[in-house]
Amino acid sequence: MTSLEKKANPIETPSKMMAIRLHEFGGTEVLRYEEAPVPKLKSGEVLIRVHAIGVNPPDWYLRDGYKMLPPEWRPQVPFPIILGSDVSGIVVAVAQDVTDFSAGDEVFGMVRFPSVGESAAYAQYVAAPATDLALKPSGLDHIHAAASAMAGLTAWQFLIELGHNHPNPLQAEMHQPLPLKDKTILINGAAGGVGHFAVQLAKWKGANVTAVASTTHESFLRDLGANHFIDYTKTPPEDVAHNIDIVLDTLGGANTGRFLKTIKPGGALFPVFLGFSDHDEAAKLDITVSMTQVRSNGLQLFELAKLLEAGTIKVAIDSTFTLSDAKSAHERAANGHIQGKIVLIVD
Ligand SMILES: NC(=O)c1ccc[n+]([C@@H]2O[C@H](COP(=O)([O-])OP(=O)(O)OC[C@H]3O[C@@H](n4cnc5c(N)ncnc54)[C@H](OP(=O)(O)O)[C@@H]3O)[C@@H](O)[C@H]2O)c1
Repeated sequence: MTSLEKKANPIETPSKMMAIRLHEFGGTEVLRYEEAPVPKLKSGEVLIRVHAIGVNPPDWYLRDGYKMLPPEWRPQVPFPIILGSDVSGIVVAVAQDVTDFSAGDEVFGMVRFPSVGESAAYAQYVAAPATDLALKPSGLDHIHAAASAMAGLTAWQFLIELGHNHPNPLQAEMHQPLPLKDKTILINGAAGGVGHFAVQLAKWKGANVTAVASTTHESFLRDLGANHFIDYTKTPPEDVAHNIDIVLDTLGGANTGRFLKTIKPGGALFPVFLGFSDHDEAAKLDITVSMTQVRSNGLQLFELAKLLEAGTIKVAIDSTFTLSDAKSAHERAANGHIQGKIVLIVD
């Protein structure tokens, strides 16, 4: 069947679906599994029947009313709202102007992040801009594909290529990844979603990697290629790491400045989360501090997909839950110590 024929024959879809929606902010009890309209396609979009959904910190930040963000940062939320960004599934319909995908294609992506309020991932169907998606490699199942989107793109945009010209909401300058070949890089929070991609991408680019995580993750991180491991439950990493070229701190926050003393002059600190405030100290030590906010990018996902299919990098699955039991997935996340990714499977 040609792609034109596939496009002309979209797969039949119902008008209603099941989804996890919020009607108010709060704890896991506000995650309601209920009927919702199947989203309508707009120009440039494809409709996906979702098979698996990657779970990410912004999902519980939104559920919680973005309490971790300064008030001026909190987006307006139109209730009821569906959560989530990362999906893998099958295209069931495409808008007239979409040429890259056809009904029947298996795709995955981080859908319309960082915007909030339109069709989102915790649902049986999602309408997604075609530019947010990549074809899912046949050797990667939906669970692993859905798990890869936001975490993989975050590591990619911090370490490999930014890939867009949108203004940076977190600082005046655009973030610029640095060459990694023969560089030393320390990755804090290395076993988590972003961290375990960062370890592998840095190794792929020829860096010498120090991974920082709690005790149970040592063999996992060494298997992913980490050259050195620091167990932060036994030793503060800032006391034992020295002369590092780049620190990627996936925790970020107010404590991220402690890594300045581990970095050589001319090096860089990349906090993945807001909170750095030691700008004077960084300038004195000649250390660049730079952040960015991840953005949807189908082309970068295509590059990641090639690495995943070739086995150059892997995505680890911490745990899976059904979509209807998203509550348990959020409870798992709240218990911390995640190794890889949490994924929802559509019932
Ligand atoms: N800038 C952006 O656009 C962007 C995009 C995505 C994510 N983020 C942010 O990046 C952060 C990480 O996201 P994620 O998806 O990777 O989270 P995650 O999967 O929950 O991973 C967090 C990891 O940190 C480890 N950890 C916790 N406390 C630690 C400590 N004191 N020292 C070292 N490691 C510690 C945890 O395991 P152990 O404690 O067992 O080692 C866990 O593996 C989140 O704050 C998220 O909001 C930002």
